[in-house]
Amino acid sequence: MNKSLFNPSDVANTSVVKVSKTVLAVAICSLAISACDSPKPVERNATQFDLVTTDDANEDIGTYILPQDTAILKEPNAEQIFYGKRLLNETKRLMPEHVGAQMNCNSCHIAQGKIPLGDPYINSYNFYPRVMPRSGKEVDLVGRINGCFMRSMNGKPVDRDSKEMQAMVAYMKWLAQNTPKNQKVAISNAGEIDTSLTPDPVRGEKIYQVQCATCHGDNGEGIKDSRGDIVFPPLWGDESFNIGAGMARTYKAAAFVKYNMPMAIQTKGLWGHGNVLSDQDAVDVAEFFTHKPRPDFAGKENDWPTGNKPKDARY
Ligand code: HEC
Ligand code: HEC
Repeated sequence: MNKSLFNPSDVANTSVVKVSKTVLAVAICSLAISACDSPKPVERNATQFDLVTTDDANEDIGTYILPQDTAILKEPNAEQIFYGKRLLNETKRLMPEHVGAQMNCNSCHIAQGKIPLGDPYINSYNFYPRVMPRSGKEVDLVGRINGCFMRSMNGKPVDRDSKEMQAMVAYMKWLAQNTPKNQKVAISNAGEIDTSLTPDPVRGEKIYQVQCATCHGDNGEGIKDSRGDIVFPPLWGDESFNIGAGMARTYKAAAFVKYNMPMAIQTKGLWGHGNVLSDQDAVDVAEFFTHKPRPDFAGKENDWPTGNKPKDARY
């Protein structure tokens, strides 16, 4: 499905219909304030996903209900889980010596790792340890988190036993909601993208200027608030992720961008994000920003030691 960038066609789904009703109600209320000064809050059911077995049968055996953060209070280690949640949201401010980029973990793990196609953490606690093709060996959850510290955050690894690392793992464990090891939540970490498309960075630059620069800056530098904290993270330059990051790869970045960006400026998706760009648009804009100057990655020569290097790898 190739939707044109400048003429996005509407995807009919119920949440879009609900949103437009709300918008309509707000519009009517602003005309006649006295009649509706206390609009009813929109009722939201907790989001649910199927729980399936991890074996080939992929059998549907239950339901995962996305927990509300207030439920953390019921946990015996509530303080640790809340600390982990905070660290993932405010990584740069709370762990500056481990973070080189102007980036928080949740700059890429959208909605605190709670939504499909936005690099969720929902299955991460159960998914590791596993053999990663990039490292060619088994990596556990701590190792995976440190992979993002060294690449996506262009920073330094965090001690396995530190209170910070343990807190981040505790948040991910809580998000897994006691899903047994042989089961997983039926969601995808990333959306599909047509990897046979040839990227056109010149077209990508035009798309960047129209769809991305308002938030990420004319020079990809991002925008900070008055306290100096990141609001819109940088897409390239010294303060962005390094070439060792998954996001530095054209098709991986395109899959992220297609389903998550631009953010919150339209009526699609739970967060008003994604599904504006066609696959070609996403591949073009991703090629453009991933190939702008960014920090090198020191350990790059050790990656993909057993071959199978993806075609969009940067080295
Ligand atoms: C620049 C974007 C970016 C940032 C910042 C980032 N990550 Fe990631 N992270 C990714 C991407 C993309 C993947 C998936 C990579 C892949 O598919 O190989 C990933 C994967 C992961 C996974 C594995 C998910 C799974 O279930 O397989 C974990 C856990 C994780 N990141 C944690 C973190 C933590 C903790 C931080 C902060 C220290 C962080 N990430 C910062 C982009 C990022
Ligand atoms: C309305 C503002 C807005 C627009 C427009 C926007 N983004 Fe983002 N983008 C964000 C925010 C905010 C985040 C961080 C996620 C968060 O904080 O929830 C982000 C994160 C990202 C990230 C991961 C973090 C990083 O810095 O690498 C990438 C990649 C990205 N955006 C690419 C794009 C591209 C490409 C476009 C244009 C197609 C775009 N964005 C348009 C607001 C925006």
